[in-house]
Amino acid sequence: MKILVTGGLGYIGSHTVVELQQSGYEVIIVDNLSNSRIEVLENIEKISGVKPNYENFDLSEANLCADFFRRNADIEGIIHFAAYKAVGESVEKPLEYYKNNIGSLLNIMENMRSFKIENLVFSSSCTVYGQPDELPVTERAPIKEALSPYGYTKQVAEVMISDFIYAHPANSIALRYFNPIGAHKTALIGELPLGVPNNLMPFITQTAIGIREQLSVFGDDYNTPDGTAIRDYIHVVDLAKAHVIAVERMMNKKQKAAFEIFNIGTGNGYSVLEVIQSFEKTSKRKLNYKIVARREGDVEQVWADTNFANNELGWKAEKGLDEMTLSAWNWQLSLK
Ligand code: UD1
Repeated sequence: MKILVTGGLGYIGSHTVVELQQSGYEVIIVDNLSNSRIEVLENIEKISGVKPNYENFDLSEANLCADFFRRNADIEGIIHFAAYKAVGESVEKPLEYYKNNIGSLLNIMENMRSFKIENLVFSSSCTVYGQPDELPVTERAPIKEALSPYGYTKQVAEVMISDFIYAHPANSIALRYFNPIGAHKTALIGELPLGVPNNLMPFITQTAIGIREQLSVFGDDYNTPDGTAIRDYIHVVDLAKAHVIAVERMMNKKQKAAFEIFNIGTGNGYSVLEVIQSFEKTSKRKLNYKIVARREGDVEQVWADTNFANNELGWKAEKGLDEMTLSAWNWQLSLK
């Protein structure tokens, strides 16, 4: 069964490709290397023993996208990761974000219609909840006004998919990721931010190895037990496995509705300081950090109610925080 993975050389995409291959799927990757490296393809092969098919082009270019689908009309399902994801950058470059994140999705759905491809898994984000009124947050929580163009692209994408599914014979599952961290146990694939990392975990490991001088902890005056912000960190391999289950659910016609949305988290919230403590324990290193002012646009605390995903998908995150921070560190050590 042939599955298209867009953004399949990226952080979450590459881990998902491995899990798909290990479950017997044939994978074709489309990735324009805007935030990934071609070496990832070989490393996927080292893990799974199979080199996925790969094409390099920009999915927001309608002609290129249509040409690809004409040549690959036997694709049975699509997992759409390819998107920009830096919150701050999206404020500076909104048009790039709309073109890439919305334009690509539009092109993909047009081709799903043309070539009668019925199954789409979409990478959404807990960012759609903003600061929820109730924690843990369920999928029924209201969508809050987006704080950035990035966040808005995820909200709009979910609406676009919902409208598309309503009008056409197709199915979709949107997975709202919480905070993926960690790396594959082989340390052959992991998070590879180009430039200065925005996210916490790569900033921690790069600081510990000496690429960055010091980690800034953004705020210790939040209304949380230790004052630092709380997130639901999830191991990227657990997250990748959720995609395989979502694909299987669609292929086996197990969906209860044509468009379903699931929180993909662990259900546990950890503060920034707790992540640092876990990292220091597993890496046996002291981390150089200082407390600075809050980062604009950050929510205070969010973690997932995972009951719907656990019960409906039969999926549950299995790996704990220490396994996440240790695997992230082993990945950092493996990078030259
Ligand atoms: C952010 C986005 C989220 C997006 C994700 C992917 C927001 C509110 N959320 O998640 O929608 O899907 O990135 O890019 O912007 N921190 C530090 N120092 C650092 C970096 C981070 O203290 O150098 C703190 C942050 O303040 C936050 C936590 O670590 O409390 C996690 O930050 P990060 O990894 O950037 O993820 P989010 O901001 O939760």
